Amino acid sequence: MDSNREHFGSRMAAVLALAGSAVGLGNIWRFPYMVGEYGGAIFLIFYLIFTFFLSLPVFYAEAIIGKKGRKGAFGSFSALAPGTNWKLVGVLCIVSCFIITSYYSVVGGWATDYLARSVATGFESLSQSTATSLFSKVSSSVWEPIISHTVFLGLAAIIIKFGIKNGIEKFTKITMPILFVLMILIMFFSLSLDGAKEGVKYMLRPDFSKFSAKTLAFALGQSFFSLSLGMGTVLTYASYMRDEDSIASAGLYTSIFDFSFALISAFVVIPAVFAAGLEPGAGPSLVFESLPYIFSEMGQTSPVLSRCVTIFFFLSVFFAAITSLISMFEVCTAHLVEDRKISRTKASLIIFFSCWLLGILCSLSFGVLEDIKLFGYTIFSLFDTLASNYLMTLGALLFVLFVGWKMDRESAIDQFSMRKSKKREKTFPYFYFVIKYVAPVVIIAIFLSNFIK
Ligand code: PHE
Repeated sequence: MDSNREHFGSRMAAVLALAGSAVGLGNIWRFPYMVGEYGGAIFLIFYLIFTFFLSLPVFYAEAIIGKKGRKGAFGSFSALAPGTNWKLVGVLCIVSCFIITSYYSVVGGWATDYLARSVATGFESLSQSTATSLFSKVSSSVWEPIISHTVFLGLAAIIIKFGIKNGIEKFTKITMPILFVLMILIMFFSLSLDGAKEGVKYMLRPDFSKFSAKTLAFALGQSFFSLSLGMGTVLTYASYMRDEDSIASAGLYTSIFDFSFALISAFVVIPAVFAAGLEPGAGPSLVFESLPYIFSEMGQTSPVLSRCVTIFFFLSVFFAAITSLISMFEVCTAHLVEDRKISRTKASLIIFFSCWLLGILCSLSFGVLEDIKLFGYTIFSLFDTLASNYLMTLGALLFVLFVGWKMDRESAIDQFSMRKSKKREKTFPYFYFVIKYVAPVVIIAIFLSNFIK
């Protein structure tokens, strides 16, 4: 291990950073509405199966490359396959992270805005229609979302500037436990609401009539997105792990953490939605429109409690989003620092300004630039679709092909179970089989399913 290169102080620190990347808007914002839209329990079952049997092996493949390469995405491929085109996979990761950082920061900005509002005034006496118009104000006016996007991205840039140990590690070590506790508290609260039982039933009783090929494709896509696969974030964080920390256990803990958090988020959102008599399949606006309305309804009986729950909830969304954003930011930063020899401060400023500009376009595409369409998509949805449906799956495919077919098996197993005793994990043959044969086929199938309408 290069002694000048920064690394995480312990395995726990690495797991918390990886979990910080995984647990994000994908869990709190996307997962509950997907459970709502794609059939409740049946979606949940496939999500569980995919996470542990398919996404986890892909996670391992990505982490093995980073831990062996000991550089960011571009540098690791250049080191492991010198003189080949594999380094272009690194370029792909940097481009994907750059694109996602830009639009993710806009949604993170909305969360920041809602957090500020819940602290300043709360959401008392919102009707359902005023909740909807509030969301459209927060997302589609010109200045308000740009300001919140600037604040959110700026905070991420500051954390990144402080580096791995003093920035990412310190921040995720503090925020992740808080986030977990807050969400568990809100879950109990949500489950105690009148009418919440129906929501719990909806999530636990599988309705096989809702099953379709879409359920499978979306459950797998969501599981990849949620574990942050295919974009070099797992690779880059794994490259900062100490030699003696095993990827095998870090990956398992991260998946358990991420899965539990998705489940907790769904148990926060869906029962509350049922309690308020709303539609669980409301789509992406579920968290921003329905929850403030639900919290404000509760405020009529207990205003203080309602205010606290609202603040806790948006604080959780904020923490979850920013710990994911910094992992993508770091993929771009590592490249500028390691391969282009730019100082960390300068690198974070460069990435901040470029993603900021691109993010402004994404933000305006909810308002004044709404009519500008490329391939039928607004700028925001073009970025989202491009990155999560195409670039991420392509990245994941190239990672598993690299580990399964290019790297030798011995190097892979060494990285997988790098413990002091060099004990080789008994589970490796299973994961290796999935990485080499199963994952490529399944990922190609999902990739192609994007083209079938
Ligand atoms: N996993 C994050 C989430 O659930 C999103 C993400 C994807 C972060 C890819 C980094 C890389 O929100």
